[in-house]
Formats: sequence, C-alpha cells, structure tokens
Amino acid sequence: MLFREALWALALTRASTAHVIRRQDLDPSAVSSAFPSETVLESVAFSPSIVSETSAPAPTSTALVGKGCTGVSGLATEAKASDPDATVFVPPSLALSCLESVPVDVERDIGVIEYFLPYVSFQSTLGYLKKPPQGYLLPGVDVIGGLVAIREKLRKGGYKNQFEWGLDVKRAFGAAADGHFSYSPAILSVFGFQRTLNITSVSSDGLELPKIYDVDDIVRLGIDSASEIVSIDDTPVQDFVGKVASEKPFQDPDAQLNFLFWSIPTAWNGDNSPAFMSARTLPDSHTVKFANGTIKEYPNQAVVSSAVDFDKITSGDDLHESVEIPPPPGKGSPGTPTRLRLKHIYADALGQTETETEVTPSAAPSATAIPGYPEPIVIHQSGYVSGYFLNGSAAHDDTCVLVLSSFAAPDDSLVDNSINAEYEETRRVFQTFFKECAAAGRTKLILDVSGNGGGLVMQGYDLYKNLFPDNKAWSGSRLRAHTALDLMGQNSYEVLGGEQALLTSIFLNPITGKSYPKWKDMFGPAVFAEDKETNIMIYDFANKSMLFDPSTETPFSITGFDPDNPAPTQPFAKEDIVVLTDGYCASTCTVLVGLLQREAGVRTIVVGGRPLVAPMQAVGGVKGSQVLPVASIQQQWETIITNQSVVVPQDLVSALPKPSNSTPPLMPIDLSKASVNYRNAYPEDNQDGPPTQFVYEAANCRRFYRPEYLADIQAEWRDVADIAWHGAKCAPGSTVSADGKIDSKVPAYSDAVRSKQSIYDGPGSLTNAEWLALATNLTGTTEGIASGAGRRGVELSVGVVAAVLVSALLML
Ligand SMILES: *[C@@H]1O[C@H](CO)[C@@H](O)[C@H](O)[C@H]1NC(C)=O
Ligand SMILES: *[C@@H]1O[C@H](CO)[C@@H](O)[C@H](O)[C@H]1NC(C)=O
Ligand SMILES: *[C@@H]1O[C@H](CO)[C@@H](O)[C@H](O)[C@H]1NC(C)=O
Ligand SMILES: *[C@@H]1O[C@H](CO)[C@@H](O)[C@H](O)[C@H]1NC(C)=O
Ligand SMILES: *[C@@H]1O[C@H](CO)[C@@H](O)[C@H](O)[C@H]1NC(C)=O
Ligand SMILES: *[C@@H]1O[C@H](CO)[C@@H](O)[C@H](O)[C@H]1NC(C)=O
Repeated sequence: MLFREALWALALTRASTAHVIRRQDLDPSAVSSAFPSETVLESVAFSPSIVSETSAPAPTSTALVGKGCTGVSGLATEAKASDPDATVFVPPSLALSCLESVPVDVERDIGVIEYFLPYVSFQSTLGYLKKPPQGYLLPGVDVIGGLVAIREKLRKGGYKNQFEWGLDVKRAFGAAADGHFSYSPAILSVFGFQRTLNITSVSSDGLELPKIYDVDDIVRLGIDSASEIVSIDDTPVQDFVGKVASEKPFQDPDAQLNFLFWSIPTAWNGDNSPAFMSARTLPDSHTVKFANGTIKEYPNQAVVSSAVDFDKITSGDDLHESVEIPPPPGKGSPGTPTRLRLKHIYADALGQTETETEVTPSAAPSATAIPGYPEPIVIHQSGYVSGYFLNGSAAHDDTCVLVLSSFAAPDDSLVDNSINAEYEETRRVFQTFFKECAAAGRTKLILDVSGNGGGLVMQGYDLYKNLFPDNKAWSGSRLRAHTALDLMGQNSYEVLGGEQALLTSIFLNPITGKSYPKWKDMFGPAVFAEDKETNIMIYDFANKSMLFDPSTETPFSITGFDPDNPAPTQPFAKEDIVVLTDGYCASTCTVLVGLLQREAGVRTIVVGGRPLVAPMQAVGGVKGSQVLPVASIQQQWETIITNQSVVVPQDLVSALPKPSNSTPPLMPIDLSKASVNYRNAYPEDNQDGPPTQFVYEAANCRRFYRPEYLADIQAEWRDVADIAWHGAKCAPGSTVSADGKIDSKVPAYSDAVRSKQSIYDGPGSLTNAEWLALATNLTGTTEGIASGAGRRGVELSVGVVAAVLVSALLML
C-alpha cells in the first residue's frame, strides 16, 4: 500500500519525478542489490522424472572435482567455459561442504544481531508470539530472546561456521510465521537448493481426504492409475511435507501446506516452481516410496546464484570475503541511502523468493489475458485484476468471477507512473465488470483471491466500498508501544504533524472521530497481558489529503468517501457473493477478506490444506496491516535526530536505530531487504482482544483440490458456484451444518486444527532449555531497559544527512 507519509517523504524530494522504483533504477554495481533475498530459483536442469527403481543414491562427481568451495569453483569454471552465462548446478552435498567451510565471524555476526535488534522491537506481534492466545495454531516464539540467544551462542563459541549461524538467524525470524517480518543473511543466498520432486495433494472428488502424488503421475496417469506417495526418505509423507510446510511464512498450517504445491493462481504470481521444490539445504537425493511398492530416487541439486562468481572463490574464506563482507565505503553502496525495491517488499509478503530478472523499461502494460485463465471480460492493464463470465452449464449462466491475483503489478510498475492512475485503473476494472455482469443478467459473484499476497492496501478498501458502499470499512490498528517508538513519537508527532510522524497515515481516534491531539494520547500505552500497544486508530478515509499523489498534485478518494463522486449502488446482494481462497491470502488480501467476512457477512470457501476432517481458515497469510522496511524506520529516525536535538538515556543508545552512515557489518546492507510488521489489525467487535493475526477464523466451507483444477480453473469455479448456490457439499467436518452444506455461520476453533508441528526448537524456543538459558542477557535491547528517568542523557545527532530520502512505497 502507498501511505500518505510515503508521499510526504516523496514530496521532500520533489526533484525526483520517478516514484516508481524499478529494478533497472538500481545501481548495478551495488553488490547489495545483486543478492536475492533467499535462494535463486532457476529452471530445473535435471528431469524431475529421472528415477531409478533402486534406492541407490544418484552418483555425484564430487570426487573428481575436489571438495568444498574448490569443488564448486571447478564445476563453475567448467560450466562457464562453453557458456559464460551458464547456470551452474552442483550436488547439494558439495554446496553444503562449501558453505560449511566458511569460518564463523563472531565479531561481525554479533554486530549484525546488535544492528537489527532495535528494528525488531518494531515488530508488532512480539508479545503475542511469546504468549500465543488460543486460536493461534502454531508454536510461539520469543524473537528478541532468540536473537539474544544467538548472540550469546556466538560468544560461547557455539557455531562451527557462518552457514549454521545464518540458518539460526533465519529460523528466529521465520518462527514468527509472518510474511511481513524478514531478514536473510547473505550466506543463505549463495546457493539455491532445489528438489526435482514436484508434488501435489489431491482428492478424486474434493470431499475425500487428499493424498500426495508426484504431479507428473497425476498429469500422465490420472488419479485412478497414479499411486500415492507413502514416504520420503523413510519419513511418512504427511510428516515430511508438514515439516517442510512449517517453515513457510504463513500463520495457518493449511495455508503453509498449500503453498508447497503448484496451482494455476500461484503459478501466475510466482514462477512454475512450487515452494516444495526449493529449500535452504537438501541431501543429494530423496528416496520416495509409493503405495504400489515402487521406490524411486529423485535427485536434488544446488544452483549457484548468478550474483556469485566462483572463478575467484576457492575457499570458505574467499566466499566470506566476496559474499558477506560489505564493499569498502565509496565502492558500492555503504553510506548511500538505499532506494526501496517495491518488488522486494511485495515478494516478502508473498513469502516467495526473488529473482533478479531484467525488466525491460518502457512498454506500457497492456495485459489481455492471464496464462492459465480463460478470456476475460475485463482486465487490468497489468493483469492482476480480471473478470470472467462462468460458462459450462445453464446453472452457471448467472455467475461472474472476479479474480484478484494481487493488489499490485508483478513487475512493480504503476499505470502511467502514477499511484492515482493505478487506483483509477483498478477501480475501472471493478466497476466496468460489475456493470457487465448486471447487463448480462449475472447476479452472482465469486471473488477469487487465491494466491493473493497483497499490494496497495487502498485498493482493498476501494473494492470493499464498491461492493458494499453503505458499510463502514473498519480499519482499526495499533503499533507496538515500546521505548524507541515513544522516543520517535515524542520528537516528531507534534513537530512534524501526526500523519507525517512515525510513518503513519492520517489516523483518527475511533471514539472521538478526530485525530489524537498529542503524541501521548495516541501512544497510550494500552497495556495487555501479552504486550503494550498504542491506542487504536482508524484511517481518515474522508480526508482528501490521505491519498495524495505529489507527482500529479491530485488527491484520490476511496469509493464512497468522495462527496463529489457518489458511490455506485451495491452491485450484488451479500448472499450472492462468495469469496474463494486457498489460504494464501496475505496483507491487503486479508484486509479485504476480513471486512467481507466480519463486516459484510459474506461467505468464504477455501480449497486444499491438510488431510483432516476439520474446518480450514480462509485467510492464512499475514493479517498485519502495515509492512515497514527497516530502511524506512532508519530514515524516519534520521530525519528526527537531524532536525531536533533528541536527548536519550545513555543505556538506551545501543537499543536505538543507527543513522544510515553506519551500515550492518555483513551483507546485505540494503535495509530495504529487511522488514517488520509495523501495525496490528483488530476486529471491530473485539478491539482489546488479540490482533487478527492471532484470531482463528474458519471459512464457511472447505473443499480439497481435484486433479482437474491443475488444468482448468473453471472446474474449480464451477464447484464453488455449486457449493454456494446449488446445494453441493463441503468436505466433511468443515461446516456447522449436519448435511455438509455451506452455512452462513462458521465452525468454531478446536484443538484438532492446531499444527502438528507443535514444537519449535530453534532460537527463541519457549520450551527448549538450552535456548532459554542463552536468552537471558537482554543488554542492548529495549526490553532490557528499565524506564530511563533520572539517568544521564546523551544528545543524538547525525553528521550525514541523507540527500535522497527513501521513498517508502509501503505495500501491504
Ligand atoms: C507405481 O506407482 C508409480 C507412481 O504412480 C508409477 O510411476 C509406477 O509406474 C507404478 N508401478 C507399477 C508397477 O505399477
Ligand atoms: C510442477 O508441476 C506443475 C504442474 O504440472 C508444472 O506446471 C510445473 O512446471 C512443475 N514445475 C517444475 C519446476 O517442474
Ligand atoms: C463465456 O461465454 C461468453 C459468451 O460466449 C464469453 O464471452 C466468455 O468469454 C465465456 N467465458 C469463459 C470464462 O470462457
Ligand atoms: C486532513 O489531514 C490533514 C493532515 O493531518 C489535516 O491538516 C487536515 O485538517 C485534515 N482535514 C480534515 C478536513 O480533517
Ligand atoms: C530535516 O533536516 C534536514 C537537514 O537539516 C532538512 O533538509 C529537512 O528538510 C528537515 N526535514 C523536516 C521535515 O524538517
Ligand atoms: C551482555 O551483552 C552485552 C551487549 O552485547 C555485553 O556487552 C555484555 O558483556 C553481556 N554480558 C554478559 C554477562 O555476558
């Protein structure tokens, strides 16, 4: 989403006309931008169906090329001899031996932890993650404790190599199961580990419990002849995939699982490699047992990141030097304010890996259809919103389908380089489509948000108000009320004006309907058992300044809030709308679906998930209502301490963000690559209860995937229409009704839906004695600082003022 404050930041740099940050704008010499956030996924070179009917591991050539990084270097040189651009594949064990030969750099690793700890305090869910309320389905985590424990483990000499450290850091962030909360050390980006095994979970009729198959078998043989997978590496298949799924950035275990499998909607958003096919580390192959007794061996591979040149890297030390150590000041980007990469934030919200593909500039977007979808009636210029008439039988002649694959273009572009033009274009698609539906006598609407990772949040509110112009569109949210936020607010709220301070937008106190006059009124804090939060705030949609595009000097109003532009009449009755999800609905998508479920009473149908006789949540992606790149927090902090003298207690200095002339001691130093969830969302009817991220919300009905859905999205839509309006059944146990038909009420929480991965044993574990013992030295964190009254103060200032402000194109 693009917040008002982001535009404010832009207004300060009015000279810069381009406020769309595209990949080609990046300085190609900046090493930081050359690293993908995680693994680089490239086309799979080995045939996924290479199999032997024995369990002998696939032979590797490690012996021929040497061990560790020398071996990788040898293979890279060989591969590049004929084609300098060749993608280099190496056996996973060789890649791993190279990574494990990178000596642990205790000093810099501690430096990285201490650099990021102040930003982690801004993560809105910390307290709730430490004490997860009933209704949160995953194990809890103490994120700050986890990072502190890693620091202590480093001090005690507990790490054998950098890779081990990097994995632990990633785990501490990952355990928050929040697509808005991410940081990934560069050592994890050197290789992409890939499986050739491509799996899916399908049921013949969508009602029976699904089984896991090799996709290729389903496609070639059909579900009646294909044999299901029983185990992978001797682990029962559901346990194996459940474990892989548990590391995916969703707070719902069914959504985590769905994310592993290929589907038409996720293929449009990402690439053709479903998440199961990539990993952080892998054995050289998997042994897969099928129900018919066949055993097959599926090779795995490691792909060398195209950003790493192994010609000159022949040891772990070389790799450390070349990949992890930032370039000296003046070379590359240290000290230079980073420019935000829209795609990165967006990609993180999707929980997907990022590739460094070149985007050709120019060429106005003009999508006419989406791959895998039928001919649309209306489509957004960038393709991410499209409308269809459902055909196939007379029963469906009254049904329209609006597909929302995303709330932003996959290539980061904005229509006419203007945020307002983007909003207008999206609104054109909604409104034109609803008119076409009415003209064709189609009175029913399927809203398909499958695979929607979010985008510009105001588009979610705008669609909601187009569907329900008379509804309120509740937007209540809070920030985590911690020491650093309080300092920022005290020194900016009254000085800069509420909406400009704290990277917030224009917010109101929902009780008074006016803005909070003073910082302390907004800050509170409101004290809950889990954490302290600010007072609740809602967007002031009626304020024309809220969405203002400085590049065109024009405001934009959400439908229904512009007195000069009345909203169209409600296009569909609420019973005639049904939301279709696959659990993969994050950020903006959760805002929209949340309003449709809670405020409008629209029913939801979800597909897929674990083989359980139980309900499934419609929304499995992060329900936080603002993602904030660490770069934006840094920039805001810098603006504050540049513009006024800020006096802070001595012992707080290390717990506060550093100015931009001090970069992290290890790559990536581009702070737009790390982000937090800044804002918790709250349901209107339980504003003091847990944030929505921790509230269990079952869909009205669940179905499992049928094999037909792999080839024909309309097969899925027809099933959904049949459930919503023609009496077809839902999967057993997924509804409140005894006859298995969809109901307007939703099933309640039960322990049966909790994740089976009930133990989290990594850094920040709430149960592991070793990690708990390491997590005690909170020095240098705001948690470790008692209220600082009466202590000696230090005046903060920065020498270097950022000439170019980070344009916080905030996505959600
Ligand atoms: C057993 O099932 C697997 C997976 O579907 C298939 O590839 C294989 O051909 C089957 N083997 C026999 C003997 O039917
Ligand atoms: C995985 O399977 C899907 C469905 O058949 C296919 O479209 C996709 O290309 C496969 N991905 C890879 C990387 O093989
Ligand atoms: C359904 O039929 C209409 C009219 O023939 C056509 O325009 C539309 O593209 C069809 N829809 C789909 C989803 O194929
Ligand atoms: C809209 O927001 C701006 C900035 O906070 C404020 O100055 C102005 O008074 C607001 N307008 C109205 C009508 O509330
Ligand atoms: C903050 O200070 C810098 C440098 O003195 C100045 O350029 C900038 O305009 C100031 N910003 C605000 C919002 O006062
Ligand atoms: C606790 O952490 C701080 C900050 O890193 C460090 O300076 C101090 O030595 C540590 N204390 C102990 C007892 O380890």
